[in-house]
Amino acid sequence: MAKLKEVFVCQNCGAPSPKWQGQCPTCGEWNTLVAEAAPQSARAAAHKTPRAARADVSTSLAAEATVEEPRLTTGSAELDRVLGGGLVAGSVTLIGGDPGIGKSTLMLQAAAALNALGPVLYATGEESLKQVALRARRLGLADATARLIAETAVEQIVGVATSVGARVLIVDSIQTMHSERIEAAPGAVSQLRECTAELVRFAKASGTAVLLVGHVTKEGQIAGPRVLEHMVDTVLYFESDTGSRFRVLRSVKNRFGAANEIGVFAMAEQGLREVTNPSAIFLSRHAEPVSGSVITVMREGTRSLLIEVQVLADASLGNNPRRVAVGIDGNRLTMLLAVAHRHAGLLLGGQDVFANVVGGVRLAETAGDLAIVLAARSSLQDVPLPNSLIAFGELGLAGEIRPVPFGEERLREAAKHGFKLALVPEANVPKRPPDGMTVRGVTRLNQALDAF
Ligand code: TYD
Ligand code: MG
Repeated sequence: MAKLKEVFVCQNCGAPSPKWQGQCPTCGEWNTLVAEAAPQSARAAAHKTPRAARADVSTSLAAEATVEEPRLTTGSAELDRVLGGGLVAGSVTLIGGDPGIGKSTLMLQAAAALNALGPVLYATGEESLKQVALRARRLGLADATARLIAETAVEQIVGVATSVGARVLIVDSIQTMHSERIEAAPGAVSQLRECTAELVRFAKASGTAVLLVGHVTKEGQIAGPRVLEHMVDTVLYFESDTGSRFRVLRSVKNRFGAANEIGVFAMAEQGLREVTNPSAIFLSRHAEPVSGSVITVMREGTRSLLIEVQVLADASLGNNPRRVAVGIDGNRLTMLLAVAHRHAGLLLGGQDVFANVVGGVRLAETAGDLAIVLAARSSLQDVPLPNSLIAFGELGLAGEIRPVPFGEERLREAAKHGFKLALVPEANVPKRPPDGMTVRGVTRLNQALDAF
């Protein structure tokens, strides 16, 4: 009998290597190569003769483009939005997130709703059927007719999904799955890859929408490898601030919709509830105007979000004043303070500066620049800005205020929440401002700071 062939697979990036090495030649990580049996499919494929190519297998782009992707609504407008308008038949979606964040809960709620449109199969490899049923009872979904199966062999799951004619297959989680064709333990890179490949093949061949739950490593990536992200159509991450009951579902890759789209949920007694107006939760309205606080409008996917930026400038006791940024890039904060000093005479040299975005949100956009500098000045001089003010705009190194995309949408969101005054880049001033709102355009930083 031929000796079983071994390959060494990097557990970080998934690259194979014929011999063991201390460092992965592809990604450069140390001690990540693990011996795994070479997949049979790969060995068999080497002996196969190529398929005869036929001309009629190609199709015209125009003919394909007219085919609308049918979308299945998941019963949750927030989840549908993140998916790009619902679940696409034959698509594969990976949902990652920390343990306990609510992935299984979300999947179970979606399963119950999707079951109205066609058979749904929920394969659990982590929990027993009893546990899933108990959770369903807590969620008030006990009478839902979605099919359950406690199984970890993908071939079995695919077989059952085929026989029940599943329109949607949920696999919780991909790390517990194994393929009979591979010798490695569940969770190993080659297993993850083979199981995912099997499920992708099944989804494409049958038109079943497949949802995969994936765990996240300490570094915040889907455990195992980036390779999974390449294989699937859509990657969603479930995130939360520690201790908060709010959950943000974010699409980081979507072949059927916008990336960076977010959906907001709250974990309640009866499972996940949608938060349709997330601006309201990230915004802490102060009864009296306070210094160091400015509201700005951030874009996440197709959504505008109102968030509060806070800066505290305090006389430093040491020789090296501190610059602490939470929810904002630290380098950007340092840069903005330098621009504010150089072009608007803001003396922050002897001050510790702390900047924070309320609600655990990350402000990764340059549109928040103006609000950060306004908040810094407000804190330094202990002069509050009006409660009804919002500000956005990018700040350049020459002290200029640059326009940002989606100015009108941002203004509309602010007007919707009752803000009366907006300080924005000149080029973002609309011809017709939203009702009840005064929009003031600025081109230079000192001009913006002089506005109050
Ligand atoms: P779960 O969906 O099991 O998380 P994951 O699959 O991502 O590991 O969610 C578990 C957490 O959610 C657990 O800490 C309890 C909480 N929870 C609620 O607060 N309310 C509920 O109705 C449910 C079902 C769970
Ligand atoms: Mg779970």
